[in-house]
Amino acid sequence: MNSFDQEYTVSEAGKVLHNANLIKKYHANLVYDYTEYPTKGHWKETFGDDDYKKAIIDWYPKNKNKPILFYVHTPFCEQLCNFCLCSKEITRNYDRVKEYLYSYLAKEIDLLEDHFVKNKVNFNFKEIYFGGGSPTYYKKEEFKFLIDRLKKFIDFKNIGDFTVEIDPRRVDEERLLFYHEMGVNRLSFGIQDFDPGVQEEINRPQPPELVDKLLTEKVRKLFPVINFDLLIGLPRQNIKTITQTIKDVVKLKPSQLQTMYVHYKPGTRKYMIKMVRNEPMLDFFDRKAVFQKASEILLNSGYTRAGFESYSLPNDPLTQSMKDKKAVYNSLGTQKGEATNFIAVGSSAHGVLNDEYYFQNYYEQPLYRQALEEGKFPIYRGLKMTSDDVIRREVIRHIRTFFNIEFDFFEKKYSKSFKDYFHKELENIKVFEKDDLLKINENNIVLTPLGEHFSPQIANVFDTYNDQQFYNRAI
Ligand SMILES: C[S@@+](CC[C@H](N)C(=O)[O-])C[C@H]1O[C@@H](n2cnc3c(N)ncnc32)[C@H](O)[C@@H]1O
Ligand code: SF4
Repeated sequence: MNSFDQEYTVSEAGKVLHNANLIKKYHANLVYDYTEYPTKGHWKETFGDDDYKKAIIDWYPKNKNKPILFYVHTPFCEQLCNFCLCSKEITRNYDRVKEYLYSYLAKEIDLLEDHFVKNKVNFNFKEIYFGGGSPTYYKKEEFKFLIDRLKKFIDFKNIGDFTVEIDPRRVDEERLLFYHEMGVNRLSFGIQDFDPGVQEEINRPQPPELVDKLLTEKVRKLFPVINFDLLIGLPRQNIKTITQTIKDVVKLKPSQLQTMYVHYKPGTRKYMIKMVRNEPMLDFFDRKAVFQKASEILLNSGYTRAGFESYSLPNDPLTQSMKDKKAVYNSLGTQKGEATNFIAVGSSAHGVLNDEYYFQNYYEQPLYRQALEEGKFPIYRGLKMTSDDVIRREVIRHIRTFFNIEFDFFEKKYSKSFKDYFHKELENIKVFEKDDLLKINENNIVLTPLGEHFSPQIANVFDTYNDQQFYNRAI
């Protein structure tokens, strides 16, 4: 039993959150997603072009066969969605998109290829991911140019997953078939919510029929893995609307789903206040209740949970990788975990060479372009990780993805006694056990179903950079 006695139910679906005080106690406006650890705010702006070049030369000989994902960022969209935190510019001017591709992105790729050739770096590229913004903005000619450019140094025969983020309003069946001809085999659709009222607030009109029309038999056959992104916590969402949205989603049968809690940051994205012009963002209680309802319907409809915010169908490869404990939660959602190293191009794109380096390009177009005009990689910040960062990142990932920590796993992999190494953390985490959020056993820690809702807060105990001391909180 937890240590509070005041019971209070916010809604039927919120019953699992049987104690409002508990939520109040552990609530924080900002709990990190932990798609990266250390979190981006701790990467160093002194890490630049030269460090990036050296990092590649240093890392490659030690990791020649490690699979690498090649990420391409396209920072343009035709229309603004009020909830959007992605790095993008809204424009109707296609020349601007072409200029970015032909004069800058291509230049960054040239620099990279030159660096690889000069230093005999022959990365084992295994996956490709086009994200945005909206990679669907490219017309066929530009999309093909990009593919042909990548083919000069990536052997497409070795590529497993090749994903494109799809804005369903901007494509038709023919476009999706063209993507397949170009080598794409996985689609990730931005869905967010199907309720017309919610869509009005977020400026994203997009009925389920529009998506249904795209997912023809042919498309489903060519793209066995289809992901939908959904957002939880949007204004006007409630138990009734999410029930209908999830029912519509289940009918459309995506093989994977990422149901992310919406982040609200009007401080940095002023336009986000448009989203709350009629109704406020959901509060912490109702967000949880909506999430819980969505989760309940998905689990009853044959989906399995794949980490904190993701779900997959039994025959989807993600389900197997969860069973094999290979799945990894990162900035692209819960992934199979095959290629966890990224080389990334495009403004704001970030890369990771596991166990050693993080790096990220400039967000701002002028800075991104200026660096390239000077013949430099447009690196804004980066980090050389310590061995302590690496082990903590893995503990945090296990909490977020598998909701447990098996001490043996860490002892074998890192040759350290878990109990000695995390002596302080094992003390601090005890308060969560008192609140019934996890169970500390001899050989492992397992989160309870209630504790799964608090996995970011629990993971925070292992974060030495942003320790929010949830374990010291009283109400
Ligand atoms: C950058 S979008 C790219 C996809 C494409 N442009 C589209 O909208 O269909 C990728 C995903 O980021 C997520 N996202 C955007 N803003 C977010 C926010 N404020 N909080 C949480 N996730 C967000 C959305 O779920 C979105 O589908
Ligand atoms: S959600 Fe997608 S389409 Fe909407 S503004 Fe963001 S990146 Fe563009």
